Amino acid sequence: MNDLSGHAAERVRPLVRVRQVRDFLDRQVARSELDAIVDVARWSGSSSNSQPWRFIVMTDGATIKRLADAGMPQTRGLQTAPAAVVIALPDEQGQAVSHAYDEGRAAERILIAASSLGLAAGISWVLPANREKVGEILGLPPGWFVRTIVAVGHPSEAGLRPKAAPGQARLPRNEVVFEEKWPQG
Ligand SMILES: Cc1cc2nc3c(=O)[nH]c(=O)nc-3n(C[C@H](O)[C@H](O)[C@H](O)COP(=O)(O)O)c2cc1C
Repeated sequence: MNDLSGHAAERVRPLVRVRQVRDFLDRQVARSELDAIVDVARWSGSSSNSQPWRFIVMTDGATIKRLADAGMPQTRGLQTAPAAVVIALPDEQGQAVSHAYDEGRAAERILIAASSLGLAAGISWVLPANREKVGEILGLPPGWFVRTIVAVGHPSEAGLRPKAAPGQARLPRNEVVFEEKWPQG
C-alpha cells in the first residue's frame, strides 16, 4: 500500500468503524442529535427521488420496549435502546425491491450519522408475521408497513464488544473484491 492509499484508508476509517450495536446505556439521546440523524436519513437519495419513506422518531422508552417485545428475537437490539427511528414504507405493487433499496440506504445513513455523533445504532427487522402488531403500536394508516427499526443510543461496553473473533468479522478481501473480471479457474 503506498502513502496515498494509506491516507485514503485512514480518512474512510470512521465508515469502517460503523457497526451494529444492540446494547445501550440507560442514557437519553439529545433531541438535537436525533433531529440531526433523521435529517441525514431524509436527505438519502432514493429511486427517482421518490422518498418513499416516513420516519417515526421514538423516544418513549415504554413504546420502544413494546416494539422490542413485538418482534423478538430480531428486535432484541431495541430492548435497551433509549431512542429509535422507525422507517415506514408504502406497500405498493411492483415497488418492493425499489423501496427496500431506498430503505437500506436510509438505514445505513442513520447508523453512520449516529456513529459520527459518538452514538451507536443497530438495525432490527420486523418480520412479516409481526408487522400487524408493530403497525398497531405505531398507529400506521392502511397501506403502510414497517420492516426496519433502527435503535439509537449511547453504546454500552457489552454493545461494543466484538461479535466475531479477530479477523473473522468480514470475509477476506481477496474473496470479495475482484479486479477487472471474475477470477478464472
Ligand atoms: C438488511 C439487514 C437486516 C438486518 N436485520 C437485523 C435484525 O433483524 N436484527 C438484528 O439484530 N440485526 C440485524 N441486522 C444487523 C446485521 O446482523 C449486522 O449488520 C451484521 O451482523 C454485521 O454486523 P457488524 O457490522 O457489527 O459486524 C440486519 C442488517 C441488515 C443489513
